[in-house]
Order: sequence, then C-alpha cells, then structure tokens
Amino acid sequence: MLNSSSILNRIFRLKVTDYSKKGHGLAFLEVEKGKTPVKVEIPSAALGEHLGVKIEKRKRGGEYQAKILEIIQASDARILPRCEHANSCGGCSWQHIEYRSQLEQKEKKIHALFGSIPGVFFHPIISCENPWHYRNKMEFSFSEDKSGKKFLGLVETFSRRKVLNLNHCHLVSSWFIEITQAVFEWWNRRSLKPFHPPSGTGSLDSLTVREGVRTGQRMVTLNISGDHDHFVKKTDLTTFKQAILHVSPKEKTSIYLRIRRAEKNRPTTFYEMHLHGPDALHETLVIKGKPFHFRISPDSFFQPNTLQAEKLYEKALDLAHPNASMRVYDLYAGCGSIGMIFAPFVKKVLAIEQSAYAVCDAKVNIQFNQIDNMNIVCADVKETLSKFSLSADLIIVDPPRSGLDQAIIERLLVIRPKKILYISCNPFTQSENIFTLIEHGYQLKAIQPVDQFPHTPHIETISLLEN
Ligand SMILES: C[S@@+](CC[C@H](N)C(=O)[O-])C[C@H]1O[C@@H](n2cnc3c(N)ncnc32)[C@H](O)[C@@H]1O
Repeated sequence: MLNSSSILNRIFRLKVTDYSKKGHGLAFLEVEKGKTPVKVEIPSAALGEHLGVKIEKRKRGGEYQAKILEIIQASDARILPRCEHANSCGGCSWQHIEYRSQLEQKEKKIHALFGSIPGVFFHPIISCENPWHYRNKMEFSFSEDKSGKKFLGLVETFSRRKVLNLNHCHLVSSWFIEITQAVFEWWNRRSLKPFHPPSGTGSLDSLTVREGVRTGQRMVTLNISGDHDHFVKKTDLTTFKQAILHVSPKEKTSIYLRIRRAEKNRPTTFYEMHLHGPDALHETLVIKGKPFHFRISPDSFFQPNTLQAEKLYEKALDLAHPNASMRVYDLYAGCGSIGMIFAPFVKKVLAIEQSAYAVCDAKVNIQFNQIDNMNIVCADVKETLSKFSLSADLIIVDPPRSGLDQAIIERLLVIRPKKILYISCNPFTQSENIFTLIEHGYQLKAIQPVDQFPHTPHIETISLLEN
C-alpha cells in the first residue's frame, strides 16, 4: 500500500489540472484511499497534459515535486521553448506554452479571483507586442559549489541558491549577458568569494543590470556584503570597471558599487559608490503622445517593462477619468511616474514614497518635466497617511507584492476618496484588500490586466473602485 513517503522516487501517470503560483503544472495524486489527494508540482508541464512523472522530493508545505519522464498526451498549447536554459532556469516557467495560451491563463486567474464580485467590467488583458527581450532590469547572483566552481546567473527552478551560468536570456537585451560574462571572467581571475547568506561570509552578492529602453543608457551595479573580512579591494574595483567598459560603451554606461551592511539588532543599511559614467539611468515614457523623462538611481524602483509601463499608465488614466478639480494622492510613488503622468489632468498631486533615493529622483523628475502641481514626501505610507488632514478625490496605490496593510486600508476608509485606483503586481493580495474595501462600501467597477511579464505567471492589474 502507498503512503506519503513511499511515493518518493516512484513513477506515476498524472493529469495536469492547474498551475501553481510559480507557473508549474499542478496535479493531484491519491496516495491513500479516502484521504485528500496530495498536490504534485511539475515544472515544464502544461494544463490538461497527461504525463509520466517521477516524484523527486517532498516540500516543506507537504506538496511534492516531480520530474516529467514522458509526455503521454501533450497540450495543444505546448511549443518548443526558445531558450536552452528553459527547463532548469527559474527565470521563466512558461516558455513551453504558446503566448496566446499564457494570456488566457492570466485572464482566467483574474476571473477566478474577482469573478464573484457583481458588476465588475473585466477588460481584456493587454498583451506585449514583442514578448521577448522586454525586461529593463535583471539581477544575476554570484555562487560557488562545494568544489569551488563559480556561477554567475539566474537561480535554478526549485532552488534557493543554486545558480546557472547563462549563455542566453531571451527576456533581456543580449548585452546583459555580455556584461555578465565579462564580470564572470573578471571574477574567475580573482580569489573573491561569493556572499553565502547562511554563514554571512564572502563578499560578491549579485550583479544588477538595467537599461533605459528608450534612451539606450545602461547601468551596472555590483552588490556586495560590507563584511570587513571579505572586502573588495580598490584594485578589484578598477579591474571590475575595466571588464565592463571592455564590452560596453563608456559614455552610456553607469557603474555603481552597492554595499550592504547588516549588523545584529540594527536595520540593514546600504551605501552606494559611483564608479563610472552618468550618476543615474535615464528613461523616457511616451504617454498619449507626450514624453516624460525620468532619472532613476540604482536603488529606485521603475516598472520593469518600459513599453508595457506606457500602456499600464495610459490605461490608468483612461480608467480613473481625472479632471481639473481633482486632488490626488499617489501612494508608493517610486520616482514619481504615476503622479507626474496624472498631474497635467488634475488640480494637485501629493505623492508618498519611503526610499530617499527614489524621492530625490522624483523631485528632479518633477522639476525637469515642468510639473508645478505635484509634491512628494519621503515617508512610510502607514505612518504618514494618518497625519494628513487633507481630503482626496482619487487615491492611487501601487504597493509592493505584500499589498496594503490593514492600518492603511482603515485610513483609506476614513479619507474615503470617491475613487481608488489600485495597481498591483500581485492579484492575490490585491483581491484580499479589495474584498475588504468592498465590505466597507466601495464598489469594484473595472479591472484591467496588463501583461508585463511574458513567459512567467506574473500579472499586473489595475482596479478601479468607487465609493
Ligand atoms: C511597486 S513599486 C511602485 C512604484 C511606482 N508607483 C511606479 O509605478 O513606478 C512600490 C514602491 O513602494 C515603495 N514602498 C514600499 N513600502 C513602502 C512604504 N511602507 N511606504 C512608502 N513607500 C513604500 C517602494 O520603495 C517602491 O518604490
């Protein structure tokens, strides 16, 4: 008789009935008669497929991980992945699924989360014209195995620290990989150790590469640990810089060192050292024919898909219907992009953002784009929102993946703007927050998914709530 440990390393025939949050195929296996079937996660599987799989691991949450041995009946949506790393790299989990079918899955997920709410208008998902080379930012990790073999690339599927050296990545411009390979060769000639989180030893943590898609500018940041025992010497930094400038044009490449200082019982702090080139990345967004220019510091957030960000912000304007008498809050404002795009249509914008770097960028951006009805405050939304006595007609929120804190929702309910525009890259936390707002009298009027992340299960959504 089977039990939960005896299924390890055994082979089963399973049907994929759903996708996990990470985009892996999900199947259910009846291990013991009368008991709830166990969940099996299968990377590189597509919905509806019949597969022969080997159960490889039991995860902490109790579900299992399996490897495909045979595709008994393939999905009509299955295609050959473009990337040679697709089956092992954790960067994208849906390359084996036709783009059209990926979009259908994303729409289905949004309907499943919000479909029970009466009166919502579901706008069709906005797809990417080109679903390749769309990311303007990627973070590559440094790692070493027990034998001392070095790796610099993306983390493998189902792994927390096992890194894959990349020959290609079709989500970014090809020069991202040229930079990564140049840095890898630089590292190969030195004795520097990768940062090892469990022991806190080593120095090289990750390499962040960013691109101004509409400006052609580049930014490379070496993220290191500030541990004195594993310091990166000045000569190492000089050769690091040379390695990058050997493959990237001097005048358009900005290079930074970012040092993380973690000490017990103290908040982690970061120090930035500008090593070469322009001191920030510049990007332009064209919104309804009008260009907006942005300065972006290494630490500042910017939407990761420039061309889709333009569509996202245009749709945000269409949904919110701003007018000249509106007072608007832009909460979680980053370097000020959404507030700046709304400012020409409304009376006043007040933005809140907690990253001091992003706020400095926003102040420059507001001035450079000649916007005279927008202010930004450097603060935690939670602490600051309660201090504002001003009322607002429209509040735009664009929080991190964790969504809105209960205290912030309570404050929104006190301010009670006529409209709330909720932008999110995590529809799961967004839907929980929206259900709370609905319980307190708001109506969800419309929802607009925007595909910012092809070949991954991630979805960006804009929701319009009215009081
Ligand atoms: C998803 S980004 C959105 C940025 C911006 N709205 C945009 O479209 O580029 C979330 C932003 O919230 C900021 N943030 C996170 N927690 C915050 C908090 N508690 N208070 C204020 N800002 C916060 C982050 O620094 C980041 O810039």
